[in-house]
Amino acid sequence: RAWLEEQAWEINAMVRDFYHHFLIHRPEAEEARSYLERRGVSRHTREIFQLGYAPPGWDTLLQFLASRNCSLHRAVDLGLLTRGERGKLYDRFRNRLIFPIYNAQGRVVGFGGRVLDDSQPKYLNSPESSIFNKGKLLFGLHLTRAAIREKGYAIIMEGYMDVITAYQHGVRNVVASLGTSLTAEQGHLLSRYTRDVVIAYDADTAGVAASIRGLDLLQQIGFRVRVVTIPEGKDPDEYIRQHGGEKWQQLVETAAPLLDYKLNQAAKNGGSSASLLAQVLPNLAAMPGEAEREEGIRRVAARLSLSWEAVRDALRRFNKNPGR
Ligand code: GTP
Ligand code: MN
Ligand code: MN
Ligand code: MN
Ligand code: MN
Repeated sequence: RAWLEEQAWEINAMVRDFYHHFLIHRPEAEEARSYLERRGVSRHTREIFQLGYAPPGWDTLLQFLASRNCSLHRAVDLGLLTRGERGKLYDRFRNRLIFPIYNAQGRVVGFGGRVLDDSQPKYLNSPESSIFNKGKLLFGLHLTRAAIREKGYAIIMEGYMDVITAYQHGVRNVVASLGTSLTAEQGHLLSRYTRDVVIAYDADTAGVAASIRGLDLLQQIGFRVRVVTIPEGKDPDEYIRQHGGEKWQQLVETAAPLLDYKLNQAAKNGGSSASLLAQVLPNLAAMPGEAEREEGIRRVAARLSLSWEAVRDALRRFNKNPGR
């Protein structure tokens, strides 16, 4: 098992280098380079993240791997090659910008590939395998964990480009969840470096609304969770490119504690105060200190026009029977 993992890392590292070299040096990658240019990704950043380009051909990687006597069977397992009808092998990633995905130890465990235009699917990832489990990874962590420790908190974003742009603009305590729902495993991974997170998901509807359950989960694991609201329907990449790293930092400082974020959302969406109260009881229950909890109860009572005692009693009932 350990030997198989090492073999997989070795193949992935070789493929990362192949795609990266292609992006940097080959004339066929001109379109990919100008795409990155348009999106403001500097040459230095391309190196730091070892970005790559998979050319449009059906067997470019296949030929390369064969020439290196690489086990094609393993390359299929890793999702680098696909076996078509009648057993014919071909490249999985074609005409895509390549984002190598590392584990926290700095091993390449998989890849994400983005189209250069508006075609679908926008992103293609390595398939789930023994070494690639998206729900257990945080994109960028191998580069950013020192900054996360130093700053004392992590900013969790949605996408590759959010992390890359933030990093380029000097915001280095960032990771991406590569999807919207955070898992307990991602929380445990991050908890080795910090217990304080700011969620910076896209301002579009699919962003934060869909992720609330994951945020409650983080709080239950013991994280302090705050949520930043990005104006003008933007994501961090667009916001930072337009306004810069300092403005971003100011925005992060306005992040609302999860409890308040939920109360604000609830106020926008409407609903009975009983159902809104039920939504925030888990957050009150997960608050670490007595003083903080009493203050939370006060904020909830004020926002929902309930008495302090009514909220406290509901919390007591919740604590006796949280599964309800
Ligand atoms: P850009 O359009 O390049 O700025 O990407 P984005 O990161 O802003 O995309 P979006 O907000 O739509 O999605 C956030 C993240 O979800 C992406 O970075 C991907 O990790 C993932 N994602 C988005 N679209 C797809 C898709 O079509 N397939 C898969 N597997 N993942 C996706
Ligand atoms: Mn290089
Ligand atoms: Mn989105
Ligand atoms: Mn986005
Ligand atoms: Mn984006």
